[in-house]
Amino acid sequence: MNEIRVFCPATIANISCGFDVLGLALDAVGDEMVVRKSREKGIVITKLEGQDLPMETHKNVAGVAGMALLEQTDYTGGFEIEIYKKIKAGSGIGSSAASSAGAVWAMNELLGKPFDALQLVAFAMEGERLASGVAHADNVAPALYGGFTLVRSYEPLDIVPIPAPSKLYATVIHPQIEVRTADSRKILKTNITLQDGIRQWGNVGGLVAALFTDDYALLGRSLEDHIVEPIRSILIPGFADIKSGALKAGALGSGISGSGPSIFALSKGLEIAQNVGEQMKKTYRDIGVDYDVHVSKINHEGIKLLD
Ligand code: HSE
Repeated sequence: MNEIRVFCPATIANISCGFDVLGLALDAVGDEMVVRKSREKGIVITKLEGQDLPMETHKNVAGVAGMALLEQTDYTGGFEIEIYKKIKAGSGIGSSAASSAGAVWAMNELLGKPFDALQLVAFAMEGERLASGVAHADNVAPALYGGFTLVRSYEPLDIVPIPAPSKLYATVIHPQIEVRTADSRKILKTNITLQDGIRQWGNVGGLVAALFTDDYALLGRSLEDHIVEPIRSILIPGFADIKSGALKAGALGSGISGSGPSIFALSKGLEIAQNVGEQMKKTYRDIGVDYDVHVSKINHEGIKLLD
């Protein structure tokens, strides 16, 4: 096998209460990449369609993540990468993660799978470091594992895959503005109160328990964020209206997707998730904001091979 085409899912990081530790993979939206072995050592991005992003290896997240993997092998050749972006950069649904994770996953396949998923997460995190200044794993982990993931620890890296209830759907609305993760991290406070910590880790535990037991009501109660959302929501047009509209339309909960500006809601069943999408669209139409909407099942397998 010398060449493969892969689907790299979009992801929702943080999931309200789990800043930098929780994430989930989406099914209905993602990038495509073609990765092929080449004789020449190193990585060359030969095509990049859909977004205006740098193609130089050391400036491209797929190139940087791929080089992190390549440096750990004794493979003497290299790789060519074609990237077909469907996920908009700066939209908050893991655009850089899809490229970083997709590159290392595909290269690992072509090399006969010398690395496990945890090692691939570590390589892909180097792409995130380039994109945002911080090697966070809460987008690349769900992209590689599928479903929900918890980063239990960064040092040492410890990823816990979490199953997703079968009727769980995500609705995501992307107001057509770009928020760079690096910028939306700079506005965060670096200290939290003990009281906020108690609420936040209570919710993380509740959310994880809910996912393991298919307890949709507990899942909804756990989608709370008293630390990051109050600060970042200021950057997102109509955030409070979108969120309250989503809850009125039947969503279990709603919050900022990753570092924003996308807003997500989780719902039990496709019909409610679609109604939530309609309500979100109406809210943005009323206040005159352009948008994209995605309604998606949770992706259980992560990155996958395409024919
Ligand atoms: N946890 C990261 C952040 C996710 O919120 O900055 C970015 O997609």
